[in-house]
Amino acid sequence: MSTSGPVPALADRATASADRLRAADRVLLASHIDADGLTSAAIATTALSRAGIPVETVFKKQLDPTEIASIAAREYETVLFTDFGSGQLDVISDHVAAGDFEAVVADHHQPSAPADCNADAVVDTDGYADFDYHCNPLLVGLDGASELSGAGAAYVLARALEPDDGDNRDLAALAVVGAVGDMQAVGGELVGANEGIVEEGIAADVLEEGTDLSLYGKQTRPLPKLLEYATEVPIPGISNDQAGATKFLEDLGLDLKRHGEWRTWADLSDDERQTVASALVQRAVTRGVPADKIQSLVGTTYTLTTEPTGTELRDASEFSTLLNATARYERADVGLAVCLGDRQAPLEQARKLLANHRRNLSEGLDLVKERGVTRSEQVQYFDAGTAIRETIVGIVAGMALGTDGVDSDRPIIAFADADGETKVSSRATGPLVGRGVDLSVVMREAAQAVGGDGGGHDIAAGATIPAGEEDAFVEAADDVVARQLD
Ligand code: C5P
Ligand code: C5P
Ligand code: C5P
Ligand code: ZN
Repeated sequence: MSTSGPVPALADRATASADRLRAADRVLLASHIDADGLTSAAIATTALSRAGIPVETVFKKQLDPTEIASIAAREYETVLFTDFGSGQLDVISDHVAAGDFEAVVADHHQPSAPADCNADAVVDTDGYADFDYHCNPLLVGLDGASELSGAGAAYVLARALEPDDGDNRDLAALAVVGAVGDMQAVGGELVGANEGIVEEGIAADVLEEGTDLSLYGKQTRPLPKLLEYATEVPIPGISNDQAGATKFLEDLGLDLKRHGEWRTWADLSDDERQTVASALVQRAVTRGVPADKIQSLVGTTYTLTTEPTGTELRDASEFSTLLNATARYERADVGLAVCLGDRQAPLEQARKLLANHRRNLSEGLDLVKERGVTRSEQVQYFDAGTAIRETIVGIVAGMALGTDGVDSDRPIIAFADADGETKVSSRATGPLVGRGVDLSVVMREAAQAVGGDGGGHDIAAGATIPAGEEDAFVEAADDVVARQLD
């Protein structure tokens, strides 16, 4: 086995996939509508273009037999799937066997079960359906929820596609945005294969890794807003308290305004940051915030050094939220343009979409708080109906886990209306996964039991089921979770 490339275990698969793509006259690229899917697509299209291979890109909410048939109808000889495809390998391989297209898949989701596949070309790799051109961390013993994202898999492929060694390392920055967007950072830090990609980005001068305040909005939020909205670690008298946050800053005796406007964290000197951070920790200590929470106030941050200071694009976390704000609202074209470096109209438009996205997330969380969740034997769930968009209900569910009234030690399931069907999203925690919970299996089996289908990761997964089957779905999910915890 070759040991080259950023993820040696995937090198042979990446080489085979790259060779297959080079043999194509043109490629249709299909990718997923979130931050990871967008960055996957940006990485893959850039690498294909640099290799002189024409590419057209389409985005899909979720791959299902209908969507795959619509891709086949485009009559491209070669289709590259990024950030999805593994979970639908059964359907994709049928199309390949029928001669509809040749497929290459760079993904990190749980692959289909081999038993579901009819095509001869599908083989069994440790209980996962597998075929010739398949780059997925799970096939080589890496964790697809924390060690490599879809963008990471696309990056491995991009490095195998590059004309000269090292050319595509600049794309590591986008791979990090994808991984952070999929919440792959463990305790704030990227680990495993992701770490290798971070190192390549640093070597290519596109990325910096640092230790800093772990609050969201360091690049763009005025300081009082940064602190007021920082509710991941609630600090009494500051979080959710505009006047308190402002007074806390005023009392520090620093010059934190410029031309009458509050500065941002990104704009502070190292000394100023040190002063604010120490005072914040001090306040948390005196107000009795638990030590582990205080520790999580500081974490690893990933800075895109080629992006302008004070923009969303400079910080991997803010960049990924900006991208989610486009793709999850049917404007993947805007997010892709931003990823590809188009910084005028698309960036303006993305910022408008971001304001809307943040409002929706905040209203969604309020709704869960007001209505509460229902507890079944093993899980807790809520039905958002049409009140939360199906494309963001999973984000809201994840953010709700562990807030007041929502247990942090049982999986959460959310339902939302989706064009006459029901979208299901589910989220778990590290400890639950450690005890055996695998939501990708829960979603797939419970959905199939009621005439739908699903999949994803152990810690976060989703499904689509027929409307009206929600109660039966919860019952089936309870059974699977009980079996997993047994
Ligand atoms: O489709 P995809 O893989 O891109 O989506 C991953 C989803 O899983 C994201 O919405 C992310 O927030 C969620 N996730 C999570 N906790 C983790 C890892 C992923 O909620 N530890
Ligand atoms: O689930 P996914 O990875 O797509 O969600 C993006 C993440 O961005 C959220 O889970 C949350 O941690 C973060 N976020 C936030 N505040 C917001 C919006 C997003 O902290 N208002
Ligand atoms: O949509 P949501 O954010 O809840 O998705 C969580 C994870 O489950 C994502 O990685 C998504 O790609 C995956 N998923 C899936 N099949 C579905 C729905 C979601 O693999 N039908
Ligand atoms: Zn992904």
